[in-house]
Amino acid sequence: MRIFITKPIIESGIEILRSAGHEVNVHQGEKGITKEELYSAAKESDALITMLSDKIDEEFLEKNSHLLVIANYAVGFNNIDIEAAKRLAIPVANTPDVLTHATAELAFALLLSSARRITEAHNSIASNNWKGWEPMGFLGQSLANKTLGIFGAGRIGQSFAKMCQGAFDMEVLYTSRTEKNDFPAKRVSFDELVEKSDIISVHCDLNATTMGKFNRDIFKKMKSSSIFINTARGEIHNEVDLHWALTHGEVWGAGLDVTNPEPMSADSPLLKLPNVTITPHIGSATLKARSEMSDLVATNILKGLIKEKLLTPVY
Ligand code: DGY
Repeated sequence: MRIFITKPIIESGIEILRSAGHEVNVHQGEKGITKEELYSAAKESDALITMLSDKIDEEFLEKNSHLLVIANYAVGFNNIDIEAAKRLAIPVANTPDVLTHATAELAFALLLSSARRITEAHNSIASNNWKGWEPMGFLGQSLANKTLGIFGAGRIGQSFAKMCQGAFDMEVLYTSRTEKNDFPAKRVSFDELVEKSDIISVHCDLNATTMGKFNRDIFKKMKSSSIFINTARGEIHNEVDLHWALTHGEVWGAGLDVTNPEPMSADSPLLKLPNVTITPHIGSATLKARSEMSDLVATNILKGLIKEKLLTPVY
C-alpha cells in the first residue's frame, strides 16, 4: 500500500513501513507542503503521516474518505477535525507518552531561562554590552519552594510538575476536568490557580474552551512576580496581551515554545523583550523522542492498513 508523509521524519519508522512491503513517499523541500500538494498526494495514498502544521479539516477528509488511517506526528491533534474523521470512519492516531519527558524538560528549561534571565544575559554578551561582573547584574528569581500552577494536568503537565517538585520542592496547584489521584498536588479552581501561582505552566490541549484563555484580564490577575510558560499551543495565550502584561509589570517573565502564528515573525514585539525566552516549538525535539514518535506512527499505520485497532487512537 502507499503511505505519504508530509515532512521528512527519522528513518526508523519509514524502514518499518518499507520492510512490511509498503511504498512510502515523503514530501521533500524546505517549504511546507501546500494545500494542493497535500490533496494530490492524499488522493494517491492509502494512509498519511501528518504534522501538527497540516490542516486536516472536514473538506480534506470528505475528499479523502478512502484513507485507511491518519497518524499525526504529535501528541496534540487540534490540526485534525476529529468529529469529521469519526463520521467518515477514518481512524486517527497521535503520539502520546513517547514525548512526555522531552516536552516537560523543555518547559523546565524555559522556566530556568526565565527565572535566571539566561536569554537576556546571553544576549548582553553577544551584543557586546556586558561590561563585567556586577553585584547588581541580572538579579533573577530563586525557584526554591515556589508555587507552581499547572493548567492542564495530563501526562506532560504532571511530568513537569514532578521535575519542579524534585528539583525545587515546589508546591503544585492544578486545574483539570478530573481529580488526578496519583498526582501529589492540589486541584484548585482556575481563579485560584491564577491568583496563587508564582509560575503558571500551560499543558492543556487546544480546544474551544482553552483558545485565548490567557488574555489581558487573566494576566492582570496573576502575581506581578509570576512567570508564564507555554509549551502546549500558542493559541492558548493572546500574544498582544502577553506583551502588554510583560511591559506593564503584570507578569515578570515568560518562556514560550509555542507561538501564534507559527513560525513567529522575526518582527514580533515579544522577541524584543528582555524578559522572554522563545523557542521554535521544539518540545519533542530530542533524538530519543522523535525516534520513538517515528516508530509509533509507523506501527499505527500498519495497524490501520489491516483495519486493526490502533496502538494510540485519538478516538
Ligand atoms: C505535540 O506533539 O503536540 C507537541 O506540541 C510537541 O512539542
